[in-house]
Amino acid sequence: MTLGLCSRVGSRFSIPQRKGIITVPITPVPFSPFPTPSDTPIPGVFPETGVSNPPPPSEAPGLGGLIPDFAQAWKTAHAKAKTMLQHFSLEQKVALTTGVGWEGGRCVGNIPAVADFPGLCLEDSPLGVRDTDFVTAFPTGVTTASTWNRTLLRMRGVFMGQEHKAKGVHVALGPMMNMGRIAQGGRNWEGFGADPFLSGEAAYETILGMQSSGIQACAKHYINNEQEHKRTQESSNVDDRTQHEIYAHPFMRSVQAGVASVMCSYNLVNDTYACENNKTLNDILKREYAFQGYIMSDWSAQHSTMSAVAGLDMTMPGDITFSSGTSWWGQNLTDFVNNGTIAASRVEDMAERILSSWFLLGQDSSQYPAVNFNAFFPMDEATNEHVDVQEDHFEVVRQIGSAGAVLLKNVGNALPLNKPRSVVLVGNDAGPAFHGPNGFSDRGGDDGILAMGWGSGTANFPYLISPLEAIQARARQDRSSVMWWLDNWNTDGAAGLVQQQDVAIVFVNADSGEDYITVDGNEGDRKNLTLWQNADVLITAVANNNRNTIVVVHSVGPAIVEAWVDHPNVTALVWAGIAGQEAGNSITDVLYGAYNPSGRLPYTIAKSPSDYGAQLITGGGPNDILSIPYTEGLLIDYRHFDALNIDPRFEFGFGLSFTQFAYSNLKVSTIHQSDQNSASLEANWAAGKATPIAEGSSTAIWLHRPLIQVQFVVQNTGKVDGAEIPQLYVHHPASAGEPPSVLKGFDDIFLKHGQRTTVTIALSRYDLSIWDVVAQGWKKPTGTITFSVGASSRDFRLSGTIPL
Ligand code: BGC
Repeated sequence: MTLGLCSRVGSRFSIPQRKGIITVPITPVPFSPFPTPSDTPIPGVFPETGVSNPPPPSEAPGLGGLIPDFAQAWKTAHAKAKTMLQHFSLEQKVALTTGVGWEGGRCVGNIPAVADFPGLCLEDSPLGVRDTDFVTAFPTGVTTASTWNRTLLRMRGVFMGQEHKAKGVHVALGPMMNMGRIAQGGRNWEGFGADPFLSGEAAYETILGMQSSGIQACAKHYINNEQEHKRTQESSNVDDRTQHEIYAHPFMRSVQAGVASVMCSYNLVNDTYACENNKTLNDILKREYAFQGYIMSDWSAQHSTMSAVAGLDMTMPGDITFSSGTSWWGQNLTDFVNNGTIAASRVEDMAERILSSWFLLGQDSSQYPAVNFNAFFPMDEATNEHVDVQEDHFEVVRQIGSAGAVLLKNVGNALPLNKPRSVVLVGNDAGPAFHGPNGFSDRGGDDGILAMGWGSGTANFPYLISPLEAIQARARQDRSSVMWWLDNWNTDGAAGLVQQQDVAIVFVNADSGEDYITVDGNEGDRKNLTLWQNADVLITAVANNNRNTIVVVHSVGPAIVEAWVDHPNVTALVWAGIAGQEAGNSITDVLYGAYNPSGRLPYTIAKSPSDYGAQLITGGGPNDILSIPYTEGLLIDYRHFDALNIDPRFEFGFGLSFTQFAYSNLKVSTIHQSDQNSASLEANWAAGKATPIAEGSSTAIWLHRPLIQVQFVVQNTGKVDGAEIPQLYVHHPASAGEPPSVLKGFDDIFLKHGQRTTVTIALSRYDLSIWDVVAQGWKKPTGTITFSVGASSRDFRLSGTIPL
């Protein structure tokens, strides 16, 4: 179904014709330019925190730890911004909000210097510094989320932040938290999988890490940019409850991590562009979440001057279309203020938000590195200093690649490999690309080991270790023979070579990316969920000829594996993710047992594409706005499979280990913490009433403070050391209208063989609440809430009742 262009025009703000003193109201919802959280911190329990010293990952709120309170840090930053702005004219304030235009500066986005303010460099991407050299190519978001390991998520954030800063960047354009609503969504690999809680925790740790390094993070793309097809001309039509519980949640966690900036997306939300959407920008982000930084547009996602009134604070790259030489803001914004159409206080607020984020991160320091690269002209020696910012970050890259690999099948202890006499590697994905790791611009091609998707979410590889290289190095040590066949199309040749080899390892992949590049007919989004380059035929040919066929998949997301997964000769399957520059070493560590697999699927692998609850919507003419109804509501990914009782091939949260874990001794208790400031709000919630509307009502500390403590014992009952990822799923009463199970807690627990430990997971009032659309608040559902603890979304080992 499509809507005509007229509805697009109708969704814009109409500009009043009258000139003079008439000022349109800033927004129809309660909104102050400088919201503050509604709660008072409890000293010692919720310490005031600056962005440079957040609590460690082991003290995450979901583990019963600390909620960092950035209120004072923001307050100080806003005060400094106010002081600086006293000397700024209207034109200068407007300059802070308006990018210099496409290719107008050295970075992908640039804010000009104004008076004493030196300007801003904004640069991609969510996995490293884009468009420059001597940087680390970190694992993708989705592979890092597959680790379910808060420490690794944090470390990646810290190191990415350090590298951006050392290149002179002020704002790193990540992390990206789109939800993977559509299995084939082109940019899903930039994000953290198909569950809001996992994605929210990943965003939280990534942002705390990045900002502790002194870089401004940017939570993107806000919101509902869930497919690439017609991303600038589609309206995601989402009900308010689904928006709050699913899509907005990771952005709320970003605000709780003190994120400096948010990027609004290209698409429309309920027929209004995301960058001029009063509901999502002003009401949810700035009012409910009390977001105190600034909202920038995605590149050319702004469509009107009046977007300022709807909550947009910065336009990127600044021109209406790339290099048009025109802008919705700049002189237009100044004129709109001078003629009374837009309140001067709104522009003051925009400028204050932008400057305070800069102060919050301490970027006013004279020690802050100057921009030392040129994103648009990387060969220009005058503007590229080729600063090496890599340090030893490759070590954590290698570790994340291993920890993010998910072991899905392992029959007869096929893995780990133990000094096999002969190994044969099959598949183009095992080796290097013919034209090197950066042979395709923005990685827009699939040749050799797949270690990044394509588009703006990329960085240049400094090098790329292939499985062929890493496994040969290991073979030298083991005195194994290694043969290879990198041609996916001559399957007869592969079939001949693999006979009489101890083990055949087939490497295959599936790629996707951003819509401005098309690879093999895939216009960003994948056109199907099949593995690429004849993979199914290749795997089957090898399995028909070798009784110990191990399959390694480097995939941007779910893929259908039915053609061969039950083949008796396919003894093992490893879902190795998209792992960055050390991909070959990471998978080799897993295959040989140097790393005992602990990754878990951050999405469901279905038996058939039609099993997924939401499908890619295609079509639409050049002048149409494509309508994308989110009719599945809360039932994305595993929630849909559970609700409709559909058997997945591999469920969300699933992953095997080389050892086994037993769960026991479940205990659940209420944590009593008295706080006079919030006693009435807590009583209100306990009585089943929705949280009252107020600034910061959704991020108020009382709502997120640990309320329920769940404890249980996990024991490593196998023969080798390894990590388990215990997961907690809440089951709401039927009256709540929730999916059967929703993830609300997890931890990563490393145990030596035989060792046992007590695991603690905490649940807050927020974790137990549902969104009340009528009251516009969070409330406890009526009835009994139960929960399960286990090893996946379908492997529950213990269950209990929430004592409320
Ligand atoms: C992408 C953003 C990116 C920006 C700048 C846009 O096309 O959607 O994710 O940050 O370009 O490169």
